[in-house]
Amino acid sequence: MERPKILVTGAAGYIGTHTAVELIGAGYGVVIVDDLSNSDESAVDGVRQITGRDVAFIRADCNDMEALARVFEQNEFSGVIHFAASKAVGESVEEPLKYYRNNVGSFVNVLELMKRHGVPNMVFSSSATVYGQPDVLPATEATPRKPATSPYGNTKQVCEDILRDSVAAYPGLNGISLRYFNPIGAHPSALIGELPKGVPNNLVPFITQTAAGIREELSVFGDDYNTEDGTALRDYIDVVDLAKAHVVAVGRMIDGGMKERYEVFNIGTGKPVSVLELVNTFERVNGVKVPYKIVGRRAGDVESVWADTTLANTELGWQAEKTLEETLRTAWNWEKHIRGL
Ligand code: UD1
Repeated sequence: MERPKILVTGAAGYIGTHTAVELIGAGYGVVIVDDLSNSDESAVDGVRQITGRDVAFIRADCNDMEALARVFEQNEFSGVIHFAASKAVGESVEEPLKYYRNNVGSFVNVLELMKRHGVPNMVFSSSATVYGQPDVLPATEATPRKPATSPYGNTKQVCEDILRDSVAAYPGLNGISLRYFNPIGAHPSALIGELPKGVPNNLVPFITQTAAGIREELSVFGDDYNTEDGTALRDYIDVVDLAKAHVVAVGRMIDGGMKERYEVFNIGTGKPVSVLELVNTFERVNGVKVPYKIVGRRAGDVESVWADTTLANTELGWQAEKTLEETLRTAWNWEKHIRGL
């Protein structure tokens, strides 16, 4: 028997494609909605190739209420996983309205249509950015959120609150916010992965492009942090592991396993890794050089953040499986695949 059908918004993007693959692998039906504003339809083809399924794809902006309403009229969904959002911190400072429209406005639209059509389950893509620099590490779900330092970060907090308040108000609605730490890597098939447009903001795409000779050298932002090697610490989570967390979350909702109707989970490895440790590991496992120079700190960066994943481990029965070495190999294989190396 076919498992229930899930609407996955923004699923032509990096985390969305990997999640669509895992959902289909777990037997779910998947409908993808994406406006392709920061992605390419070839990513959906990658999902089709890996799964051997003719996955439904509708090109639409979640701000286009009419187009989105048609999707809800034509399908009976058991849940929605909402990835559709903009995610560049710097751009969000320059263009806050774009971020409030794309991230908050579109989320309200989707929830409105879920309410109208009685679709009960929402998994929201949140971020460890809501913790800012925690006073105590690792961060648990009870760690207080810090005031956001960018409109992007604020949209994640606001959307978490919108989901919490909506669940409280509408008896038919359940919600889970997954707070992702730093997603990296690609599918082992190298058929899907991260496709940043222009110069990458994030560390791993910059490393893979530097190794491929597209960028001259990596700038390491700051070596004067209060850490062992002076570079900042993050919790790098494999994108396939992260995708699987969504499958488990949506299954928990559909199967009636939630403890509360609104829940929050950290999704990370629980292991802090420094920027230099990541660069060195990448070079070692892939046998390539990544030229780098140390430059000043990047505005808005925190020193250290990593997850306490106990709640996801015990409640979701989920845990990160891939080692950093394995993940960095998949990141390099993907870069080589798209560059024809
Ligand atoms: C950033 C965002 C976060 C967002 C996430 C995914 C901030 C403060 N946080 O996380 O909200 O959810 O991206 O888009 O912007 N680094 C370098 N050189 C580079 C790039 C990065 O040294 O060229 C360092 C950074 O200073 C940081 C680490 O690598 O210490 C990770 O950076 P990045 O991949 O951009 O992720 P975050 O900044 O943690």
